[in-house]
Amino acid sequence: MVRHTAAGRSIPIGTPAEGVTEEMIRELVITFYDRVLKDAELGPIFDRALPGRWSAHLAVMVDFWSSIALRTARYRGKPQAAHSGLDLAPEQFTRWLALFEETAREIMEPDAAEFFILRAQRIAESLQIGLGIGPKALHLP
Ligand code: HEM
Repeated sequence: MVRHTAAGRSIPIGTPAEGVTEEMIRELVITFYDRVLKDAELGPIFDRALPGRWSAHLAVMVDFWSSIALRTARYRGKPQAAHSGLDLAPEQFTRWLALFEETAREIMEPDAAEFFILRAQRIAESLQIGLGIGPKALHLP
């Protein structure tokens, strides 16, 4: 499958991210979840779900993105199950994606940002389908 970037170039969806490093992933995860925690809509959900487990969650998220971008296969979790008890709504996914997009564009080179944003959008879509809440604003190119 091929998706087109804003710049009009195409990226085959199974391709590892060029030029992405473990350090960049750590920075993305830390900056993004720092903003998530401060967000009026999303912060309370994470506060409730992860009391005392915040740094463990960040480590899992670094493994997750590292498995996707660098093919490290460190992530062995079950994202669908992790979100099923949270009673999430499509509007919250829209907010999550907007924050993620904003953060990635701010701290990464455009190609790398695009790589993470496209994958986050696809995963958000499949999580919502799995949760039976249907994707709303997807912003897919
Ligand atoms: C409304 C949007 C979202 C909310 C509120 C949310 C919230 C959460 C929470 C609270 C957890 C921790 C669950 C636990 O350990 O008890 C979690 C785990 C996780 N989330 Fe999300 N999430 C959202 C969207 C996403 C999206 C779009 C992705 C992927 C792009 C994602 C990827 C993950 C992964 C990989 C885990 C770890 C699951 C595991 O333990 O293996 N989440 N999320």
